[in-house]
Amino acid sequence: MTIATDRAVSAHHAVPQAIEIRAFDGPVGAEVLGLDLSQPLAAEDFARIHRAHLDHHVLVFRDQRITPEEQIAFSRRFGPLQIHVLHQFQLSGHPEVLIVSNIVEDGKPIGLGDAGHFWHSDLSYKETPSLGSMLHAQELPSEGGDTLFANMHLAWDTLPAHLRTAVEGRSAEHTYLAKYAELQKRSPWRPNLSAEQIAQVKPVVHPVVRTHPETGRKALFISEHFTTRIIGLPEDESQQLLEELFAHSVRPEHLYTHKWAEHDMVFWDNRSLMHLAAGTPDHLRRKMYRTTIEGDVPF
Ligand code: SIN
Repeated sequence: MTIATDRAVSAHHAVPQAIEIRAFDGPVGAEVLGLDLSQPLAAEDFARIHRAHLDHHVLVFRDQRITPEEQIAFSRRFGPLQIHVLHQFQLSGHPEVLIVSNIVEDGKPIGLGDAGHFWHSDLSYKETPSLGSMLHAQELPSEGGDTLFANMHLAWDTLPAHLRTAVEGRSAEHTYLAKYAELQKRSPWRPNLSAEQIAQVKPVVHPVVRTHPETGRKALFISEHFTTRIIGLPEDESQQLLEELFAHSVRPEHLYTHKWAEHDMVFWDNRSLMHLAAGTPDHLRRKMYRTTIEGDVPF
């Protein structure tokens, strides 16, 4: 897939900003300083952000006072946006924005309250899973609400030899419905899916080890949430192998924990990472806006 370059108009008028990319002291992530995402992005700034995203996999932009339209516009610079199957939780007038929130108003949830409660890579259950996602903090709890990221390149690089041999050349099935019934039991407000929604999320098969289409690096591409089985293995062997792969992927040395601050915008690479929402105490409110950029068919 081609990454969208600057639109002619914005590139023409945009003034380069004094950006600094500061890598975290850890296995993944960097903070981008000096960039105001409400301003048009100059071509050279876009190129730096794009490069930093490939190098660090998670970018944190602090204190971004941006509108949903500005989040959508910035997200579109990286590719077309994907619309989440749970249309019940789209931001009104902006189907590209999924509301991730535990807030209930007038007896109705305003967003997907339990999004990300199992490790996953966004939309891995689609033929073309997501390139990356952006999450913009709207309302944060006074405690909890962290997001964890696991570096799946490191997970592959450090995978013990016997597991490498077991997965090389293998494919696995990913299904949106894998944990849906379990999540509905925990969160009774989770809607029943219509026949049309179920038709949008038919199981798909992807390689267990994928190659990043832009950097060429290999990454494990399985998740606790959506991967149901490894093709061609008996069920018990497949489950055992998946459990070992999950456990290895989320070893502490592969992780970054993002502690949210007001107006943070976080942009991660779903081709390189899994992520997990650590959870928010029920009595506290959390509201985030998520945009999801379409990627390639994994290979
Ligand atoms: C998600 O899985 O996209 C949501 C993550 C979060 O709310 O921290």
